[in-house]
Amino acid sequence: MIKSMRNFNLNNQRLLIREDLNVPLDDNGHITSNIRIRAALPTIQYALQQGAAVIITSHLGRPKEGQFDLAFSLQPVADELSHELQQPVKLIRDWQQGVEVKPGEVVLLENIRFSVGEEANDDVLAQRLANLCDIFVMDAFATAHRAQASTHGVAKYAKRACAGPLLQAELEALGKALQQPEHPLLAIVGGSKVSTKLTILESLLEKVDQLIVGGGIANTFIAASGYSVGKSLYEKDLIPAAKKLLQQAEQRGAAIPIPIDVVTAKEFSATATAQIKAVDALDDDDMILDIGPQTIEQYKKILQQANTIVWNGPVGVFEIEQFANGTQALAHAIADSSAFSLAGGGDTLAAIDKYHVADKISYISTGGGAFLEFLEGKTLPAVAILNSVGKSS
Ligand code: 3PG
Ligand code: MG
Repeated sequence: MIKSMRNFNLNNQRLLIREDLNVPLDDNGHITSNIRIRAALPTIQYALQQGAAVIITSHLGRPKEGQFDLAFSLQPVADELSHELQQPVKLIRDWQQGVEVKPGEVVLLENIRFSVGEEANDDVLAQRLANLCDIFVMDAFATAHRAQASTHGVAKYAKRACAGPLLQAELEALGKALQQPEHPLLAIVGGSKVSTKLTILESLLEKVDQLIVGGGIANTFIAASGYSVGKSLYEKDLIPAAKKLLQQAEQRGAAIPIPIDVVTAKEFSATATAQIKAVDALDDDDMILDIGPQTIEQYKKILQQANTIVWNGPVGVFEIEQFANGTQALAHAIADSSAFSLAGGGDTLAAIDKYHVADKISYISTGGGAFLEFLEGKTLPAVAILNSVGKSS
C-alpha cells in the first residue's frame, strides 16, 4: 500500500519533497515553461499550511556528476518558486552534512545530479538525503521512471516515505484513461521515430479503438502502406514492424488511419514553401512536414466519436507556421471534445501552450518519459519502492 502525504501529521515535521522541477531554460537561463513548477505548488503549499519545514530536491537537465556547473544550477527555479510562493526560497549547495530549515520555511537543494551517486542510486547518497528529514515525500511523477538516489534509494532509508498529491493525481488520471477507459478510446502518438515508440504503439494497440500516428512515425506507416515518402524522415528498417502493427490493428478491429493528403516542402526550413499533395503523389525530393486538410477533417471526425483521448506528440512541424495546421487543428478538436482527454510529453505541452488549450484538456501530465512508460504498462520504480516500504511499515 502506498502511503499518502495527507495521512501524516506534518506539524513540525521536516519534509524532504522530491519534485521534478526540470524545466526548459533558454540560452539566457530564463524558464520558458513553468508548468512543472506550477504543478508542484499545491503540494508545497499544503505542507507549509500544515506546519512542516520543507526541503525540496530536484534535478535539472543532465549535468556531469561530481562538479558544479552554473548552466545546470537550480537558481532560476528557486527564484521562480519564491515568486510563486511569495516567500524566500534559499538554494542550498552544500547540504550533505545537514540543512537548517524551520517550520513554514522552504529551501531547495541544488541540482541533485551534481551529487556523486545520484544516477547509480548509491546507498550513501540515499542515506544522506534520508537523514535530512522525518518524512520523505515522492511527488516527482515525471522522474518516477528513474531508480536513482533521490527517487528510489532515499525511500528505503527515510524514517517514513509516502506519495505526494501530484504523484497520486497523475497515477489516478493515467490509470483512469488506461485501465477502465470509456470507449471509443483514441490515442494520438506523434514524434520522429517509430523505434523509440515501438513498444508503446504495440501496447496501446491492445487497448485502443483508434490510433492516429503523426510526424516521422506516420511517414514510416505511409511507407509501410506502399506509398513513396520522397525524402521525408522515416525509418526503412521499421517498415516490417509498422506492417505488423497495421495487421495487429486490423485483427483487433481497431484502425491506424493513413493520411489521405499531406503538406510537403522541398526543404526543412522556416522559409520553405508548403504544398498540399495527395499521399500517393509525392515527388522524390518532397518532404512530408504536416497532415493535409482532408486528413485533418478525417481525424476530426474520429476525435468527435472518442470518449477517451490520449495525446502524446504533434502531427507536424508545428514550430514552423506553414506546417502547424494539423497540430493546431487537433489541439482545438481535443479541446472542444467532451471526451476525457489526457496529454503528456514535452512537445505536446509546448503545443498546448502555443494554442492556449490547457484549461480544456481534462488532465495534463507533467511526465515525458514517465508518461510513456506508464502508458506502456511498465512499473515505475519510484512508485514500486513506495509500495514495498508502505507494506513493511
Ligand atoms: C523528463 O524531463 O522527462 C524528466 O525530468 C526526466 O529527466 P531524464 O530523462 O533526464 O531522467
Ligand atoms: Mg475537453
